[in-house]
Amino acid sequence: MNYNKKTVKDVEVSGKKVLLRCDFNVPQDKETGAITSDKRIVAALPTIQYLLEHNAAVIACSHLGKPEASFEKWVKKQTEKGKDPASLTEEKWKKSLAKLSLAPVAKRLGELLGKEVIMAADVVGEDAKAKAAALKPGEILLLENTRFEKGETKNDPELAKAMASMAEVYVSDAFGAVHRAHASTAGVADYLPAVSGFLIQKELDFLGGAIANPKRPLVAILGGAKVSSKIGVINNLLEIADTIIIGGGMSYTFSAAQGGKVGDSLLEADWLDYSKDMIAKAEAKGVKFLLPLDTVCGDKFAPDAQTKVVKAGEIPDGWQGLDIGPETVKLYCDAVAGAGTVIWNGPMGVFEFPAFAKGTEAMAEALSKTSAITVIGGGDSAAAVEQLGYADKMSHISTGGGASLEFLEGKELPGVACLLDA
Ligand code: 3PG
Repeated sequence: MNYNKKTVKDVEVSGKKVLLRCDFNVPQDKETGAITSDKRIVAALPTIQYLLEHNAAVIACSHLGKPEASFEKWVKKQTEKGKDPASLTEEKWKKSLAKLSLAPVAKRLGELLGKEVIMAADVVGEDAKAKAAALKPGEILLLENTRFEKGETKNDPELAKAMASMAEVYVSDAFGAVHRAHASTAGVADYLPAVSGFLIQKELDFLGGAIANPKRPLVAILGGAKVSSKIGVINNLLEIADTIIIGGGMSYTFSAAQGGKVGDSLLEADWLDYSKDMIAKAEAKGVKFLLPLDTVCGDKFAPDAQTKVVKAGEIPDGWQGLDIGPETVKLYCDAVAGAGTVIWNGPMGVFEFPAFAKGTEAMAEALSKTSAITVIGGGDSAAAVEQLGYADKMSHISTGGGASLEFLEGKELPGVACLLDA
């Protein structure tokens, strides 16, 4: 995939209507609906500010959550969840949609920009069209949740065309959603000149650079609970990395594949053969494949569990591995110290519990000290680095969870592929 894309600086935006796809899929408090982290809104500011300062009329759009845009499908899903069909009224469905309105995002974005963000009541309806038509250079309009339209997730060309008809240029800055081939993330690019915003450009520079042209040695740290969710990443990184470091819950499946005892640890029995094959494949390719030497175990999955350190593959019954041990930390930190580039995806242990956070913390500290380019995948790894206080020490923390994972899998991302090549 070509990661070298035209950016907002390569097109004339002055006096133009610009459709800007952001990823404003922000976490919200279940009870109050309040935005609990505005990071994704803040991450979109540089592109928005650039467009406004360069005299563009900005028509921003995003999805939020997974609303069910069809009443019939909503009823079907709720019924499957055990709800009484008689209680499922159209009014309740509309209420469920209203909870996923982008209005709170418009408010927060307005506060951050220090100017009014005009909110449209729909995506391509009368209100959006009228407000987009009246929008002046230097003003910003936010369309309603794109997933309120049935055609969004189906990448319906009619919806894409209707969205595109409001603007003259399409800018995508929604890195977190580039793995989705939806009308607002990819379809619109068929009807407008399509370029990237600064956030996508930064993600492509760092993630793309780490994959396509890494400063070597390239060390990939892979953790997280399951081997099965990282298959694509392991397969792809075996082709490009010099060293692969394995930690987290998935390491116990690798340990069991080598005949180790893993006690009550997380184990994916269906993936034992695959894990064995990967170890052999790495050896054949000359890729260093580092597995834990020791393990911090707990007698239960809880913050107040009794703990003890045992050799890897010697976890007694009644105990489960919940973090990498001190010898492993040393081995892994040494590997990171000599790296040119480090890609990190997935924590080394249950970092949410302080007793099992040491491995993840030690890796974060090692990354903060190395002179290597350090690229952190979104989701859990980003959360760990942020929670442990090392966020500002990394070269780049991806804003995309699923998107960064698919990126590391080497997949073509529809929301990137649709943008004009530089
Ligand atoms: C994310 O939160 O990872 C992106 O916004 C994509 O959301 P989705 O998984 O609902 O498509």
